[in-house]
Amino acid sequence: MTLYVYVEPDQRRREELGPAFREVGCTMLTTMAELEAHLPRYPETLLVILGAQVDLDEALMFTAYQRLQRPLIGVVLIRYTLDPGVVVQCLRSGVREVVEEADSEGLRAATVRSVDLSRALGTTMRSVTEAAPYARVVTVFAGKGGCGRTMIAVNLAVALASAGRRVLVIDLDLQFGDVAIMMKLSPERSIAGGLAMAGRLDEQGLRSLVTPYRPGLDTLLAPSSPAEGEQVRREFVVELLDVARPLYDFIVVDTPAVVTDQVLAALDMSDFFVPIVTPDLPTLKSVRLTKEMFDLLDYPQDRRLLVFNRANTQVGLSPAEVEEAVGMPFAVLVPSSRDVIVSVNQGEPITITDPLHPVSRAMSDLADRCTGVQSPPVKQRRFFGRKTKA
Ligand SMILES: Nc1ncnc2c1ncn2[C@@H]1O[C@H](COP(=O)(O)OP(=O)(O)O)[C@@H](O)[C@H]1O
Ligand SMILES: [Mg+2]
Repeated sequence: MTLYVYVEPDQRRREELGPAFREVGCTMLTTMAELEAHLPRYPETLLVILGAQVDLDEALMFTAYQRLQRPLIGVVLIRYTLDPGVVVQCLRSGVREVVEEADSEGLRAATVRSVDLSRALGTTMRSVTEAAPYARVVTVFAGKGGCGRTMIAVNLAVALASAGRRVLVIDLDLQFGDVAIMMKLSPERSIAGGLAMAGRLDEQGLRSLVTPYRPGLDTLLAPSSPAEGEQVRREFVVELLDVARPLYDFIVVDTPAVVTDQVLAALDMSDFFVPIVTPDLPTLKSVRLTKEMFDLLDYPQDRRLLVFNRANTQVGLSPAEVEEAVGMPFAVLVPSSRDVIVSVNQGEPITITDPLHPVSRAMSDLADRCTGVQSPPVKQRRFFGRKTKA
């Protein structure tokens, strides 16, 4: 949870004030671009403070936009001096308060008032919005092809939908996407259809791109030609997720084997990261690198749900040894099974055709981890002869 953000381009001031602000849980940012990336990830934000060096026009545009997009956020603007004309202009754009930079007591009081107001508004609005979902984004990936990303993305989505959640699967393997094949869907509509709407995609536009699978489970398929896939820009992925999030409880993102710009955009907005490892050395190595990337990017440990796929394959490495090598505990273990191959070939997710299959059970365990439901211990995992770490 980060409720407060402070954009301070002035390095000296950032160094001076940063520690005190961080102490009260405020995220310190340097640029407006960072702020733009930050807000979709932290929809609970209540307060944005903009430093004196933030360009006035940019600050006003931001505020006017947020006022409609995220009306709970209060904007407090810092200026070097208070020019009455500027103050009026600010208030018209929806800035809650303008404070002089030297007036630290004034800043404190303004932020407290703004947060109080946001909280009060939030209580009023909550009764209206409580029922509305706000999707958690779950990104499934692996640094190597054939690990079972698509199999796991599709079955996780089915498991989440079976648990009563509204789910959208997005196939970000834009060149060679397999979601359509694994769900036996015809890719008449795809992400590519939305390219013309980039920059102004809305709910209706998104719905026109989606291929429904069954009630509560929609898909956004990869383009049928790789060339079209290349045209999907990082910004468009962000836009798709932004528009889709209020409409679903979960968005499951399938990815290609390479970390493309589009994948990074999805990872940046993800609530859960699902790396997949299979018991072979090249994959182990790639997951190790993934872990290092996560550490660098500061992705929270408890949001990393490592899946050990084909866990029972005999390769002389025990699950404990694999965990050790990767440096992350497993969230679930998925056995290797011929039934998976059959289900993939028939385009019928195993979680639907055989919900009690050990693979399907592992998928519901994974879904439970995402929904926050504690999975029942041991019984379902006896298959592997060991318990996974929680
Ligand atoms: N647990 C498993 N048991 C048996 N076969 C599997 C399992 N997981 C994946 N496979 C097979 O491996 C192949 C690659 O899976 P896929 O999900 O397409 O991988 P990726 O998307 O990572 O390239 C598929 O044909 C699938 O049948
Ligand atoms: Mg795939």
